[in-house]
Amino acid sequence: MILDLSPDELLSTTRAVRKRLDLTRAVEHDVLEDCLRLAQQAPTASYSQNWHFVVVTDPERRAALAELWRDVAGPYLERRQSANAQFVRIGEAVRHLAAHLHEVPVHVIPCVEGRVEDKPAAWTASIYGSIIPAAWSFMLAARSRGLGTVWTTFHLMHERKAAEILGIPYEQVTQVALIPVAYTIGTEFKPGRRKPLDTMVHWDRW
Ligand SMILES: Cc1cc2nc3c(=O)[nH]c(=O)nc-3n(C[C@H](O)[C@H](O)[C@H](O)COP(=O)(O)O)c2cc1C
Repeated sequence: MILDLSPDELLSTTRAVRKRLDLTRAVEHDVLEDCLRLAQQAPTASYSQNWHFVVVTDPERRAALAELWRDVAGPYLERRQSANAQFVRIGEAVRHLAAHLHEVPVHVIPCVEGRVEDKPAAWTASIYGSIIPAAWSFMLAARSRGLGTVWTTFHLMHERKAAEILGIPYEQVTQVALIPVAYTIGTEFKPGRRKPLDTMVHWDRW
């Protein structure tokens, strides 16, 4: 099923979905492959297409990853306590996802060949820049099929342990995120609140 969304609607309503993930509905293998095939159309700095996606559906592996995620999310939520309403809302959503991450039917871990430790900034930019556009394309393709996703990085604090769980060759391959994937509860999403454009756009010079 493809949702009836214009390109602008797709780009403005692909939200960080944490509370509205349907934990009871399986995600079909071929739908995930369609999204990943679209992701492959993104640009990469290397002609060799040095990206990888680890798609985790095995319940034990998801539980182990969720454990690593929670271990970082917990202290983060403690530290970030604030009276700001938006903060409180996001904090609640993160808490909810932390409690249910193991139940989210699919975890996608985008990876890229190479490591950034001790590399110059330009090299780091091209390594991350080779996978992040593809991963975002995956998230857009997922949204267009009624799936919700959220870019998360908590588990990367335990990247080596996650690599062991999944058999990723840590010395050669960098994980960049853990994207929970599930059908959404309802398909209506609104554009997010963003700062005025002129606070972040610089015409001709900063
Ligand atoms: C680099 C990056 C790291 C993020 N890490 C996490 C994370 O570890 N956990 C989480 O719940 N959300 C994480 N997020 C999601 C952001 O909190 C989310 O994109 C932001 O709140 C905007 O939400 P919105 O698109 O619904 O407006 C991350 C997003 C980015 C881009």
